[in-house]
Amino acid sequence: MDSRTVALIRTTFKAVAAEEGGSEKLARSFYAILFTDYPQVRDFFPAAMDAQRDRLLKAIVYALDRLEEPNKLLPFLAQLGRDHRKYGVQAEHYLAVATSLKTAVQVFAGTEMWTDEVDRAWDEGLKIIADTMIGAAEKETTPHVWTGTVIERREVLRDLTIVRLQLDQPMEYAAGQYVSVQIPSRPRMWRYLSPAVPADTDGEIEFHVRGVLGGWVSSAIVGQTAVGDQWLLGSPLGGLGVPRNIKRKMLMIGCGTGIAPLRAQLMAMAQRRANPKVHLFVGGHNPCDLYDLETLSDLAVANRWLTVTPVTEHDENPWWHVEPEGPHAPMPVLEPRITGQIGKVVASFGAWADRDVQIAGSPSMVQTTKFRLMAAGTLAKNIRHDPLF
Ligand SMILES: Cc1cc2nc3c(=O)[nH]c(=O)nc-3n(C[C@H](O)[C@H](O)[C@H](O)COP(=O)(O)OP(=O)(O)OC[C@H]3O[C@@H](n4cnc5c(N)ncnc54)[C@H](O)[C@@H]3O)c2cc1C
Ligand code: HEM
Repeated sequence: MDSRTVALIRTTFKAVAAEEGGSEKLARSFYAILFTDYPQVRDFFPAAMDAQRDRLLKAIVYALDRLEEPNKLLPFLAQLGRDHRKYGVQAEHYLAVATSLKTAVQVFAGTEMWTDEVDRAWDEGLKIIADTMIGAAEKETTPHVWTGTVIERREVLRDLTIVRLQLDQPMEYAAGQYVSVQIPSRPRMWRYLSPAVPADTDGEIEFHVRGVLGGWVSSAIVGQTAVGDQWLLGSPLGGLGVPRNIKRKMLMIGCGTGIAPLRAQLMAMAQRRANPKVHLFVGGHNPCDLYDLETLSDLAVANRWLTVTPVTEHDENPWWHVEPEGPHAPMPVLEPRITGQIGKVVASFGAWADRDVQIAGSPSMVQTTKFRLMAAGTLAKNIRHDPLF
């Protein structure tokens, strides 16, 4: 796609989004048009559209903004298309979404800005997105959804639960990827979770879930999951992962459940004969939040290429924390714990110029850490993280 076409899309979209509350208004208008003009698509969406009503829209905008980088964009869209099979989405629905979005942007942009050339640019951009998603979905032979039966639920912190499931058939995903998940008590509310173990040929899978205050799905998982529950899982997504022939050293930074996709990759690497050096910084608010140190310590004992540094914002545990009873395994292989904000701590070591970097955690943690690293001289092209929606 040529750069003028991309520029026209970007300019019209930015003019709309730059208005106060522009993105929110656009999202409302988009869904109003979509559900009025194409009422048949309403049933795909959750009853309550308040929580993350702009996720679909954010993804389309993210894609439109990257039309000049087809090498990165097209694989991402192909994954999304395969994943969207879980909704039962058909080719004609893409036309409904594209037309509704274009109409919503057009109304906000106004007639002066909306020339024939702008109109054609939007048609072209949306067509590339839709065609890539539809094409990938049509070619895919794996299941539209997997069913996972909960076989274990372990509360490791008062707001963090580890759930293990047995899938009805094995899923081939790369360690570091994520999947979307629907639990029985929250129909049509799909949320992304990152498997904390590499793909298992027998179909076992494990997730680490933090209950977000006021969150629809995570609090239900943490509070109500029971052995025997049946979850639905969509196709794997995401580009994190360590290729087999990688030569460059790596820096991994994970906070909270962000450790899950990093740990899965380290476990996959541990099964290989040779690996580059990896330095993992694992973060949390208080020392008691570092719930997975034992696994990381075991990995570091068995794999000399791995260095693990724990980082916490506070030195002490909160007053209400009670240490679990029983012997504490010493963890001599871990580096001493550092107190501080994780991005600042990692950046204080320098630019990590010889490393490929992965960051995983909440959107604000990812953004702050990326910002700190770039300020310390790390090149943006060497930093990877999942999309933040
Ligand atoms: C690529 C990817 C991988 C993910 N992997 C995991 C994982 O392995 N384990 C896991 O527990 N979660 C993971 N998440 C987050 C997860 O998908 C949900 O967004 C999260 O559980 C909140 O969902 P909810 O339905 O409870 O909250 P919602 O009902 O969707 O949101 C309620 C409120 O909480 C806010 N909120 C949403 N997420 C967060 C957050 N992380 N921190 C603070 N506030 C938030 C929302 O802005 C909203 O105001 C991942 C997200 C992405 C994008
Ligand atoms: C045009 C290209 C599209 C892109 C880039 C896109 C992308 C996304 C993304 C990233 C999400 C959030 C994560 C998820 O649940 O998968 C999402 C959600 C969703 N998408 Fe799409 N999508 C597109 C088209 C469609 C179409 C055509 C339909 C069918 C009408 C559709 C239906 C949905 C539904 C129902 C959700 C869940 C919304 C919610 O939970 O609030 N999408 N989309």
